[in-house]
Amino acid sequence: MPLHIIVGAQWGDEGKGRIVDYLASSADYVARFNGGDNAGHTVTIGDHIFKLHLVPSGIIHPQTIAILGNGMVVNPRSLLEEIDTLRQAGVEVTPQRLHLSFGAHLITPAHQALDAALEDARGKGKLGTTGRGIGPAYTDKAARRGLRLGDMLRDDFLTRLGEHILESNLTLGLLGAPELDPSPILDAFRHYVEQLRPYIADTSAELDAALAAGKTVLAEGAQGTLLDIEHGTYPFVTSSFTTAPGALTGLGLGLHTAHGARVIGVAKSFQTRVGSGPFPTEVFGPEAERLRGTGANPWDEFGTTTGRPRRVGWIDTVLLRYAVRLNGLTELVLTKLDILTGLEKLYLCTAYRVGGEVVDTPPFGCNLYACEPVYEELPGWQKDVHAARRWDDLPAEARAYVRRIEEITGIPVRHVSVGPEREQMAGKNNT
Ligand code: GDP
Ligand code: IMO
Ligand code: MG
Repeated sequence: MPLHIIVGAQWGDEGKGRIVDYLASSADYVARFNGGDNAGHTVTIGDHIFKLHLVPSGIIHPQTIAILGNGMVVNPRSLLEEIDTLRQAGVEVTPQRLHLSFGAHLITPAHQALDAALEDARGKGKLGTTGRGIGPAYTDKAARRGLRLGDMLRDDFLTRLGEHILESNLTLGLLGAPELDPSPILDAFRHYVEQLRPYIADTSAELDAALAAGKTVLAEGAQGTLLDIEHGTYPFVTSSFTTAPGALTGLGLGLHTAHGARVIGVAKSFQTRVGSGPFPTEVFGPEAERLRGTGANPWDEFGTTTGRPRRVGWIDTVLLRYAVRLNGLTELVLTKLDILTGLEKLYLCTAYRVGGEVVDTPPFGCNLYACEPVYEELPGWQKDVHAARRWDDLPAEARAYVRRIEEITGIPVRHVSVGPEREQMAGKNNT
């Protein structure tokens, strides 16, 4: 059963969108299973840069059917805007090829207002959320008072939406934030219901049938392993299951569908993080500017969703091994190797010093604040790698860097990405 699960192996922005697009050329379905428009997945094709937030990145390949799974939280305004942008770029988006799970939860303006008010209330301890209403929408889901996409098909939907706004106003009031007027929100949602009605489907049954018929399904994760609500650097995490098992619950797939699945971890050749939270290998000053870039290139380390500069550092293989274990990764894809070109020395964190002890797994609860990285030093390379298309095209030092990551993680690196473009990939083999 060809289910391939693609997840971020770090703190998000590893280049998942670019890799899903690369792998989707032979896929029948591409399916997002978690998160919402906090995600920003970039796909570069020639001069065109697609920035996808809700729609799976594989939609750009015309033969695919795109699914938004039940594990997602969906802002209908963002979704309709994204559909428009895709259509303007010549991508066909119709109810025949975009299916939305009736079980996905809705994000409303109240969730966004609550996200902002809660961040304000946290003061110095703020999480640095994307402000998209993700946490409050998943809070309502867990509290069993959320509104689902399927609810938009019910006669009492607008009444329930109105109640949700009034209820949320009570909390906004407690937080000292302005209350929302339900009336324009109800008007906007009347329009969203009409627009989105034809797309709502039973995507769990559809995907199960597709897999049983031998179709290929790519499950596209959002965020990354270290932002997982269960296993990430809590509380500096997002509110969904970002790890591979989340693909099953988030798409409504049974364990039988995972038998023999490829679980592909996308990892950047260095480490980045947006928002607050521990980051043992973080670097600052000129070293950081070198890895981040100035913002002049579209791939420089500035958030796709919020434009915030990303924090940067050396690759952390302690956390990469943690990602291999938690996701059951069968392979890695390494992105942005080109960014390391020109550096004299490269540093891999292989262990932590914590309270006088050296450990090679993250401490209990992934509490990384007290972890001081232990580095291994490798020589860099000077030759431009953008044109590398085969493993052998890479400089010996680059191959040694990738080989070392394979040795430490115990799994193969199947592809090495050497630029943002679809074709800029040095494959280790053809799988
Ligand atoms: P995602 O959230 O995991 O899909 O990643 P983002 O799209 O947020 O961030 C990755 C950025 O790196 C995007 O601007 C991509 O176009 C870019 N990118 C991906 N792979 C490569 C690569 O191998 N080299 C370079 N230079 N840029 C890349
Ligand atoms: P993609 O899919 C990187 C981070 C936010 C914040 C924390 C919680 O593009 O890799 P939230 O708005 O989810 O409540 O914010 O999670 N975050 C991401 N960081 N890439 C993402 O998505 C992210 N989505 C959320 O910066 O630290
Ligand atoms: Mg991103």
